[in-house]
Amino acid sequence: MASFKEIISTLPRRKGWTDSNNDLFLYQGFWCYSFFIEGVMSAQQNFQSQPSDIVICSAPKTGTTWLKSLTFAIVTRTTFDDSTSPLLANLSHDCVPFLEVDLAQSSTNRDPKNPLLATHVPYSSLPRSIIDSSCKIVYICRNPKDSFVSFYHFIARLSASKDMKPVALEEAFELYCQGVSNYGPYWDHVLGFWKASLDRPDKILFLKYEEMIEDTVLYVKKLADFIGYPFSSEEIKKGSVDKIVSMCSFENLSNLEVNKSGKHREGTPGVIENKIYFRKGKVGDWENYLTPEMAAQLDSITLQKLNGSGLTL
Ligand code: A3P
Repeated sequence: MASFKEIISTLPRRKGWTDSNNDLFLYQGFWCYSFFIEGVMSAQQNFQSQPSDIVICSAPKTGTTWLKSLTFAIVTRTTFDDSTSPLLANLSHDCVPFLEVDLAQSSTNRDPKNPLLATHVPYSSLPRSIIDSSCKIVYICRNPKDSFVSFYHFIARLSASKDMKPVALEEAFELYCQGVSNYGPYWDHVLGFWKASLDRPDKILFLKYEEMIEDTVLYVKKLADFIGYPFSSEEIKKGSVDKIVSMCSFENLSNLEVNKSGKHREGTPGVIENKIYFRKGKVGDWENYLTPEMAAQLDSITLQKLNGSGLTL
């Protein structure tokens, strides 16, 4: 049987968003770096989901770090509070395993007390057991203009720390518009989960970053209800929801020492400085980076792609 590497070498490829030779490959309709595709292939073969699992799904740069923190804080609130939570000493990516990296080889190396896992895999490429089991899926999406700007800065900051050069913003923008971004096309990613959430509203909670920023308390309650960890009226009176919202706020998390100076996956080739996951955490920052023409181009693609879906971004 051909190895994953051999299969990947036969896939359509495009240059990635840096001057390195790390290309993006088209696998099952989405673009992805080969390291992650190997993990996806392996997870598709090996991962066995449990009914109690809560799977946090997202395209990159849409609020994953935040959603992981909130979900982890909700699920662990009877064990820890806002002064003892592991989130105060660890990046949320270190509290919630990543399917295509941490769980790709086996589903047994998990903390049995932690029902959370996360992935960027599009809905139609998720391991069968996640789709078939009664586990819950929580999906977050974000306005494509902010998501692109966030993505570009992430790659630029990552490149600086790894002695690589990002492509120019304009070139990355063209690639993004063509759908050539890690786990892209972005619109297909969002639509896959959107349609699935309409078909299976009990299984998939579909969230928008902007709405969560607008009323975080409301969405934290919704999230807790959906994943089966509802807040009691006593907890609400005691301020448990507000404490989780404050603890997981951009201001709080980005100012923690671990997120200012710590590193994720230290000692591996995939090492990333934690601070790269925190930039501004604002809605509408695209205005500072995109020309009106670029914004109009992205808006028009979004309108066209989402036409008839009932979803707006
Ligand atoms: P910006 O680059 O626009 O600031 P992801 O977690 O999916 O990689 O997405 C990263 C984006 O989420 C970044 O957006 C980052 O600043 C923002 N973010 C990180 N932590 C956040 C938090 N606690 N609250 C709101 N946004 C957050």
